[in-house]
Amino acid sequence: MSERVGGLHHITLCTGSAQGDIDFFYKTLGMSLVKRTLLYDGKAPIFHLYFGNATGDPGTLTTVFPFRRTGRKARRGAGQIELCGYSIPRGALPYWRDRFARFGVRVSKISERFGQGVLRFEHPDCPLDFELIEDPADTRKPFTGAGIPAEYALRGFHNWTVLARETEDMDIFMTEGWNYRPIGTDGAFTRYVVGDGDAGHVIDLHLQPTAKAGSWFFGEGFIHHGAFKVPSLEVQEQVKLEVEGLGLTDFSDRKHRGYFQSIYVRTPSGALFEASHSIGFDVDEPADKLGLEFIVSPQFADRKDALLRQLNDPFELD
Ligand SMILES: [Fe+2]
Repeated sequence: MSERVGGLHHITLCTGSAQGDIDFFYKTLGMSLVKRTLLYDGKAPIFHLYFGNATGDPGTLTTVFPFRRTGRKARRGAGQIELCGYSIPRGALPYWRDRFARFGVRVSKISERFGQGVLRFEHPDCPLDFELIEDPADTRKPFTGAGIPAEYALRGFHNWTVLARETEDMDIFMTEGWNYRPIGTDGAFTRYVVGDGDAGHVIDLHLQPTAKAGSWFFGEGFIHHGAFKVPSLEVQEQVKLEVEGLGLTDFSDRKHRGYFQSIYVRTPSGALFEASHSIGFDVDEPADKLGLEFIVSPQFADRKDALLRQLNDPFELD
């Protein structure tokens, strides 16, 4: 159990439009665009945009599939990651509340959970919820985009929140299968951590027995899955074997995603988790020019120009 699943790696959202995501993640939240490519699964081309810190480090990566062009909408609910939380320095929440007001981002009141200041806010282009969480212990380097001063800038993930109708089986999964341990409850939320429990090593389970089930299929407006770090392919295989030994066999085969290799598991909560072993983003473009070129995923190779016309989801960074 010493080397197993680690902290948060990336989270993947089904959103509305590519431009809506650029306006929100790049221009408002100050993330860098570190890769522009396509969804690797299926036959219909859908953008896959990766946002994160300037170097695209695991633990900072929010990736999006803008699904509006398909016409399919998702239903949010139990069995999904409900909230994606990012870490900011202590005292930074008022800056963000004012900035969100200027950028037309709806927010809740500043509140407190597990002793930390929290501001909940909405994607302006599609129904997705996020949080900023003040964490003075987070020493990771700040995001550098959108001219946001370092003293306020995002550092990466703090935690994700899973909405579940019951949590007993998920507790077994988190502790015996996923290497996390519970450290306490706050109302309907139970917090699980791995390692030292620093920012980016935290999952909250939100128990809501009356919640309706959310979508699992791709469609606009939900968090599709969250990916966790594994240190090697051997550990990844071992995790799968051990979780299967608990009686949970809902794993995918290993999939090569270009920048990491992953397995996926449908957890007892219903939320889809992924265990990713990183390769890096500099495998197909220079590290100092990440995200500048459109990279075609393998199943669409040699059709780049036709694909971009077919996608019809143009976006500008300026
Ligand atoms: Fe993923």
